Amino acid sequence: MISFADEIKQGIPSALPAPKAWDPAINHAPKRKEILSPAEKKLAIANALRYFPKAQHAILAAEFAQELQTYGRIYMYRFMPEHPIFARPISDYPGKSAQAKAIMLMIQNNLDHRVAQHPHELITYGGNGAVFQNWIQYRLVMQYLAEMTDEQTLVMYSGHPMGLFPSHPNAPRVVVTNGMMIPNYSKPDDWEKFNALGVTQYGQMTAGSYMYIGPQGIVHGTTITVLNAVRRLAKNRHDIQGKLFLTAGLGGMSGAQPKAGNIAGVISVTAEVNPKAAHTRHEQGWVDEIISDLDQLVARVKKAQAAKEVVSIAYLGNVVDVWEKFDQTGVHVDLGSDQTSLHNPWAGGYYPAGLSFEQANDMMANDPEQFKTYVQESLRRHAAAVNKHTERGTYFFDYGNAFLLESSRAGGEVMAANHIDFRYPSYIQDILGPMCFDFGFGPFRWVCASGKPEDLEKTDDIACAVLEQMMQESPAEIQQQMADNIQWIKGAQENKLVVGSQARILYADAEGRMRIAAAFNEAIAKGEIGPVILGRDHHDVSGTDSPYRETSNIYDGSRFTADMAIQNVIGDSFRGATWVSIHNGGGVGWGEVINGGFGMLLDGSAQAQRNLTSMLHWDVNNGIARRNWARNENATFAIKRAMEAEPLLKVTLPNLVDERLLEDLF
Ligand SMILES: NC(=O)c1ccc[n+]([C@@H]2O[C@H](COP(=O)([O-])OP(=O)(O)OC[C@H]3O[C@@H](n4cnc5c(N)ncnc54)[C@H](O)[C@@H]3O)[C@@H](O)[C@H]2O)c1
Repeated sequence: MISFADEIKQGIPSALPAPKAWDPAINHAPKRKEILSPAEKKLAIANALRYFPKAQHAILAAEFAQELQTYGRIYMYRFMPEHPIFARPISDYPGKSAQAKAIMLMIQNNLDHRVAQHPHELITYGGNGAVFQNWIQYRLVMQYLAEMTDEQTLVMYSGHPMGLFPSHPNAPRVVVTNGMMIPNYSKPDDWEKFNALGVTQYGQMTAGSYMYIGPQGIVHGTTITVLNAVRRLAKNRHDIQGKLFLTAGLGGMSGAQPKAGNIAGVISVTAEVNPKAAHTRHEQGWVDEIISDLDQLVARVKKAQAAKEVVSIAYLGNVVDVWEKFDQTGVHVDLGSDQTSLHNPWAGGYYPAGLSFEQANDMMANDPEQFKTYVQESLRRHAAAVNKHTERGTYFFDYGNAFLLESSRAGGEVMAANHIDFRYPSYIQDILGPMCFDFGFGPFRWVCASGKPEDLEKTDDIACAVLEQMMQESPAEIQQQMADNIQWIKGAQENKLVVGSQARILYADAEGRMRIAAAFNEAIAKGEIGPVILGRDHHDVSGTDSPYRETSNIYDGSRFTADMAIQNVIGDSFRGATWVSIHNGGGVGWGEVINGGFGMLLDGSAQAQRNLTSMLHWDVNNGIARRNWARNENATFAIKRAMEAEPLLKVTLPNLVDERLLEDLF
């Protein structure tokens, strides 16, 4: 059998490997809808054949046509590698560039069977978040990374490696663009079509940027959100007891909701239509109980409310039925949200009420138009039921899954009186925006490239010591954030959050990120730990322009612009990032968001120290500056502090107008 290193160096094998059997034990991507005309299908096959010598075309053309008919995409299953895919210690990767090896490690982590949602279709999460479009792209990219030097940059066009171009050692080793379209071609069906043609892909946020670290990132983000949402309702721990949180989704990200509910100290009910997803979360211990009968659910919840229990309950069925049933039986919901995948409403992200799970799966593939009418009818019912609860005092927030957007498009009653805003806030407007992003707090993460758990433990200790030191020096405005993250990092080892690479996440502001990274670099230089890869979720202060999510708390009209995300990735790329990426789509849907991110290898060198200071400072303060210009008070506070700390930073500050002056105009 060919060794791992040899298979990587081989790239595209000269002789055709044997075809691979379709493995029913793997969680596969759903069949994509039929979208290409016969002429476009031919174009898709011709596009795919570009990777292969002519002599192989006859066999492969027939095979790829078959894949396109059966799955709606050409994954080139035959070319799945022999080697198992997981994040190996960095020293196991063949190559000439440590930075390129770090990227190989991260790519493999994103495709690890324990980490990825549909590993054989190269989908990491979110149903369509792709690392590559097909297995040949994986092979070719790994080969390029194994042969490149620090004088070259690999250019990635939506999964396709355009090639290695001469650059310089402090340039990014890889520049990734995913799903970048001419704006008029960014509707959901455009993704279906151009992805099926093999010319673009949906990179989600951390899938196509090689920065996914398994469920840990989401557990942390969800805990911070639910904790702060509950704090809005209750002044102290005692007040929280017995409060009910109702939501939906036990999938990739949404599955963290019951765990977060338990940490926040509430009763949670999470509806999930897919029995497989519900049972997986139950077996993992992320949700305490499963109930599949509505009357039993009502009785169980009333008991939990009376006893002020902390418990998480999964309801196996449609969330619309729960909202309606709780209304009919007088169950008071304190906190409500939704995490069905409405960024992908027509292809399995949202299961309409009134159809069984199986009926819905069948209809979406065989009668997509009819399915769409069911989804829209269900969304109208869903919104109406939520409205009944909120009239009685439920605090409802949109969880960045496009629930309000799609409900409004379906004709659901979710618009505010001014017909511009939604009736309910997004979690960013009320919670993460003002409490975290405006101050610069966001999802900083790192991976210990040695693969050693003891390195992760040491980095946890280093990060905790930095945060504790900073907490003593920080102003009252950010004390709560610091305290939450210190508590998180102290419990991180015990909570066994690692799946795949030895990774950790916490929320830190610009100063925190720079100080933690500098302390890591110093520890690497002293030989106390191996190299560390820094990164972050794109869902952050500066990385993402998304009017209904990350930038929904921008009120100067600029939330429909994407200058910040573009500036961010350009700025990161010339300040020392090891790789950068910029994506269309991710989270809320194709055409609805532009998001970017970076990865950076720390190797203990003086150059790494210069890079981390320069790049992390920009990577956070860019967004704070923009949020400040949008007149967000906390951001102005944060950017003034940043200017005091760094004399070279000079940001334009807004003058606030007296509203009375505008009253009589127009
Ligand atoms: N967790 C977060 O912090 C966060 C942040 C921002 C956005 N989101 C958004 O949340 C959504 C969910 O993400 P995910 O990774 O969990 O997706 P996912 O597709 O893995 O999970 C969604 C789950 O919802 C279930 N579902 C769909 N319709 C349902 C219905 N009517 N009733 C009950 N269950 C239903 C599906 O069966 C699925 O298991 C995405 O749109 C994502 O962008 C999450």
